[in-house]
Amino acid sequence: MFKSICAIAAGSLLLASTTLHAATDKGPIVIKFAHVVADNTPKGQGALLFKKLAEERLGDKVTVEVYPNSTLYGDANELDALAKNEVQLLAPSLAKFEKYTKQLQVFDLPFLFDDLDAVNRFQKRAKGRQLLRSMEAHNIVGLAYWHNGMKQLSATKALLVPGDAAGLKFRIQPSSVLEAQFNQLGATPLVLPFAEVFEALKSGKVQGAENPWSNIYSKQLHSLQPYITETNHGVLDYMLVSNPRFWYAIPHQIRMELEGIIDEVTFEVNRQAEAANQADRDRIAAANGTQVIALTDEQRDAWRQAMQPVWQQFEGVIGADIMKAAQTVNRIKRD
Ligand code: SIN
Repeated sequence: MFKSICAIAAGSLLLASTTLHAATDKGPIVIKFAHVVADNTPKGQGALLFKKLAEERLGDKVTVEVYPNSTLYGDANELDALAKNEVQLLAPSLAKFEKYTKQLQVFDLPFLFDDLDAVNRFQKRAKGRQLLRSMEAHNIVGLAYWHNGMKQLSATKALLVPGDAAGLKFRIQPSSVLEAQFNQLGATPLVLPFAEVFEALKSGKVQGAENPWSNIYSKQLHSLQPYITETNHGVLDYMLVSNPRFWYAIPHQIRMELEGIIDEVTFEVNRQAEAANQADRDRIAAANGTQVIALTDEQRDAWRQAMQPVWQQFEGVIGADIMKAAQTVNRIKRD
């Protein structure tokens, strides 16, 4: 045991001194930022803005390489690559951290947050901020939350009432909450990496999916899904993460500047995400071949009722305190 602690400590020191060395003597620190979506999405734009500001302000001290569309690492291996310092920044969706913490599953609960503003309020409050540190035992440090948007349900048939989803297969992210959500509908969830969603819909391996408008539009998923129901039933947001052994080994002054840049980029990503999703929604609605279905309040309530048993199922796992804190951020209180 003592030997392995010593080995970890020695490994950290080695990594720290290598990074320091790289920053001071051997040219710029290289930060590889990998992600799985397209450049023309909130996360894609955020990654590019981070690169631009970091390179503008830190000149020869920092170089940022951005790899979009799973071109360097994808869902299956990006967090392992981060642990090995093969990549230094990622922004996985919050549904992809279940292996490291159950607490973040709060973000997957259906109909918990009324809208992106409510999500924002939760992320800024103490409980939300605490969750940024919930994976440090696994060598993952959360640097910021980035928004994408609220998820919509798409399928090969019109989904008006919850029973319409029964018998269909839906692609999901690797989250037990999302699995339970589709089970509640009598549908079959299938975990697939984001990079495989287009092909899975094309081949008929799955008949439906849940995505924010920006991910649907940027991957042209609507060309394979004739119906999209505007459910806004859950959120798809991100945590910008690094490996603390890498991050805290960056010379203090440079790290402070990078963290300031992250704050600016976070502000911009989160300010623009909703409008970007709305614009993509309008593009999809204007395109031939996909019908965007708006739900009445009554219809949306039926979806809420059908999915909400998932809350009780996961309360013990996520933590009642976290769920309670999340429920206080909606503007309109429900019984
Ligand atoms: C992403 O936005 O990073 C992809 C989310 C997904 O896997 O659906």
